[in-house]
Amino acid sequence: MDRGQFSSKFGFIMAAAGAAVGLGNIWGFPTQVASNGGAAFVLVYLILAFCLAYPALMAELIVGRATRHNAVIALPMLTDVPLLKLGGKVVGIAGLITVAVILSFYAIVAGWMFASALEPVLTTLGFTQYGQWVSTFGLSRNIVFTVLFMVATVLIICGGVRQGIERWSTRLMPALVVILLLLIAYMMTLPGALKGLEVYLVPDFSQVFDGGLLVSALGQAFFSLSLGVGCMLIYGSYMSSKENIVQVGAWVTLIDVGLAFVAGLLIIPAMYVAQHYGVEIFDQNGQLLGGDTLIFKVLPSLFAQMGSIGVFVAFAFFMLMSLAALTSSISLLEVPVAYVVESHNVERKKASWGIGALITAFSLIIVFNFEALFGLVIAITTRYSQPILGIFFCVYAGWVWQRNNALTEIKKGNAGAQHSIFWAVWPWYVRFVCPVFILAMFIHSL
Ligand code: PHE
Repeated sequence: MDRGQFSSKFGFIMAAAGAAVGLGNIWGFPTQVASNGGAAFVLVYLILAFCLAYPALMAELIVGRATRHNAVIALPMLTDVPLLKLGGKVVGIAGLITVAVILSFYAIVAGWMFASALEPVLTTLGFTQYGQWVSTFGLSRNIVFTVLFMVATVLIICGGVRQGIERWSTRLMPALVVILLLLIAYMMTLPGALKGLEVYLVPDFSQVFDGGLLVSALGQAFFSLSLGVGCMLIYGSYMSSKENIVQVGAWVTLIDVGLAFVAGLLIIPAMYVAQHYGVEIFDQNGQLLGGDTLIFKVLPSLFAQMGSIGVFVAFAFFMLMSLAALTSSISLLEVPVAYVVESHNVERKKASWGIGALITAFSLIIVFNFEALFGLVIAITTRYSQPILGIFFCVYAGWVWQRNNALTEIKKGNAGAQHSIFWAVWPWYVRFVCPVFILAMFIHSL
C-alpha cells in the first residue's frame, strides 16, 4: 500500500515537534513548576528529559522507521517468538486505546482554550452575553467547543501525512514560536515580571533530590514527548530513510524541551505580574495556584487589567494554546486512523471521520459526567497507562529486537553511527536505565 511520508527534514521535525509541543508544555509544565518548587523542578526536568525521555523517544522513532507500520503491526514484527508477537500486539492495541482516551480529554481542554480566545473578541465587539457564555464553565459551551475542536482535528487528518499533518505543522509551529516570544517580550515590560523570573530561574538546590519532584518531572517529560502510546512510532514510520534519525530525534527533543522552558518564561512571570495587579496567586496553604485556576482565572484577570491591549494579548495567548493543542491532537488522532487504514484497509477519510466521531462521543460522555470522569481519565492515561506502555516500548526495542537490526536502521542516514557516542550509550539505556526508572516512577505513583 502507498504510505505517506514527510517530504523533508524540516517537515518531519516540525510535525514531530508539533506533536510533542502541546498543552503539556504550555500549560502542564509551567503549572508543575509552580507547584513543585520553581527552578528546582526546571533543573530536574531538563536533566531527565535529555537523559531518559530522549532515549525512549529514539526507541519509538527507530522501530517505527525500520518497520514502516503502526505499533500494532510494528511491535510483533520485531520477533519470531509467537508469545512475544502476541505481547507486541497487545501493547500496540493498549497504546491505541490510551491515545483515544487522551484525545477525548485533550479535546475538552483545547476547546476551553479556543473558547477563551474568543471571549475578549466577543466582549470587545459588544456581544457581552456570548462572551460570558464562552468564558463560563457550562454544559452547552463545553459540548460546542469540544465538537468544534474535534472537527478541526479530523479535517486536518483527512488530508494525510503531507497535505494534512506536515502542511499544518510547518505553518502552526513557527506561528506559535513567534506569538510566544512576542508575549514574553511584552510581559517583561510589566511590573512584577522580574520577581517571577527569579522564582523560575534560581533553583533552591535543597529541593532537587525530592522524590516527589523527581517523579513528577519524569512523568511530565514522558507526557510532553508523547511517549508510550505509539505516537512517535507512527511519525517515525513516515520519516525518510535518508535522514539522520539520531540527529532529528535530538532536534525534536530540543524543541519540545526548549518550548516548555520558554513557556515557563511567560507563565511564571505572568503570575507575578498578576499579583502586582492585585490578583490572588497563592492558595490558602501559600502554594502557587496551579491547574485550571492558573490558566483560566489568573491569566484572564491579568489580561483584563491591561486595558485595551489586554484584548489582543488575551486573544494571542489563547490562540497560541489552541494551535499548540491542534498540532498535538492531530498526532493523537493519527495513531488510530493509521491503524484502521493500514490494518483494515479502510479509506483514510472514512477512517478519520469514523474514529473522530467515536472519540467525540467519548469526549461528550466525559463532558456529561465531568466531576466523575475528567480527573479519573487523565490520571489513568497519563499516570499509569503511558509509563507502563513506555516500559514495554523500551523492552521491545532493547531486548526483543536484535541489536543489529537497530544499528542497520540508524546507519541508513548516518554511516558512522556504529562509532558514535549515541550507539555506545543508547542500547544500554533502553535495556536497563529507561525501564528501571519508569518502573520506579510507576511504583512511586501507586
Ligand atoms: N505531548 C503532548 C503535549 O504535551 C500530548 C500528547 C501525549 C500527544 C501523548 C500525543 C501523545 O501536549
